[in-house]
Amino acid sequence: MEILVALGEVFGAEKLVEIKSAQISGISYDNIGDEGLEWLESFNARVVVKTFSNPAGMDLNRWREMGLEKDFFQKQMRIINALKRIGVEITLTCTPYYLETPSLGDHLAWAESSAVVYANSVIGARTNRESGISALASAVIGKTPYYGLHIKEERSPSVRIIVKRDVEPAIAGFTSGKIVGSEIPLVEFERKVSHEDLKAFGSALAASGGAGMFHAKEITPEWMDFETPSEKIVVDEEEVFDECEPDLIAIGCPHTSAEELKRILEMLSRYGSPKKKLWIFTSRNVALQNAEIVRKIEEFGARVFYDTCMVVSPATSEFDCVMVNSGKALEYLPKLRNVAVTFGTLENCIRRAVK
Ligand code: F3S
Repeated sequence: MEILVALGEVFGAEKLVEIKSAQISGISYDNIGDEGLEWLESFNARVVVKTFSNPAGMDLNRWREMGLEKDFFQKQMRIINALKRIGVEITLTCTPYYLETPSLGDHLAWAESSAVVYANSVIGARTNRESGISALASAVIGKTPYYGLHIKEERSPSVRIIVKRDVEPAIAGFTSGKIVGSEIPLVEFERKVSHEDLKAFGSALAASGGAGMFHAKEITPEWMDFETPSEKIVVDEEEVFDECEPDLIAIGCPHTSAEELKRILEMLSRYGSPKKKLWIFTSRNVALQNAEIVRKIEEFGARVFYDTCMVVSPATSEFDCVMVNSGKALEYLPKLRNVAVTFGTLENCIRRAVK
């Protein structure tokens, strides 16, 4: 409660508001180390609302296949057990909205930035970009300070972004984030975009900038509720990235949806088995609901890992160059895993894997 009150005072919140769910990030042993692990083990409270957890540092069952050591496994499991003990659901995904979709206007306290952007923008729920600690505090109290994106007027766009037809949404988000920082944009996509495209755009926007949401003209639920900003930015060119020869192709930042798994299987059926390592990251929940598709993808020789991701797992650090279809991974893999990155659409990634 002290954490929430302090935050509320800093941001001028007049009250706390009840939340429907919380989502806690920062649970990879690689991120929080022994200090974080011991702190979680000593935590003496239980959550009172549904509380999702972000990806951990490994697939809980297949960590050996990821090249991880037993010591890492044991430390990571102590974190998982500490979270279980306080009532956190071991969902281990950055796409909790595929497990249980919030409703328009629901107040949440979510910490993972890509999930925050998706919840605010595509669903119209309301959450600030919480830290792992403030989300946990909210999970225990069941409330969050009422400021920022919880308030309708604070969700107003201040800049307009036109995304030209030939620009990939993931790259458009990456480029836009660098330009607009934490401002909320109203985005006009010239091409038809799917929910997966919006997920890719938003996660990249939040990673290269600091925005907690965007509106998409004629698509997202609140875009008509505000005036159109006068400042206009056109994103018309694919940013060029240094090419490197990938020794890993990694898909699933954010975690893949059922639809994306289906597309990957279709492409593998068309192009054949990968010759390079192809790792796909998704939630255990989505994978179990699409077990047959996952089984067939793995029959081609790709690996589908659950509970973890290419950025929070130290496994990715073992490679030199990782090819991704994610703007967020482009931002974080070089910084956090010290690897070179190269970008391609999902189709380009699969084709490169099978070459
Ligand atoms: Fe999710 Fe990991 Fe990317 S948490 S958004 S897959 S960095």
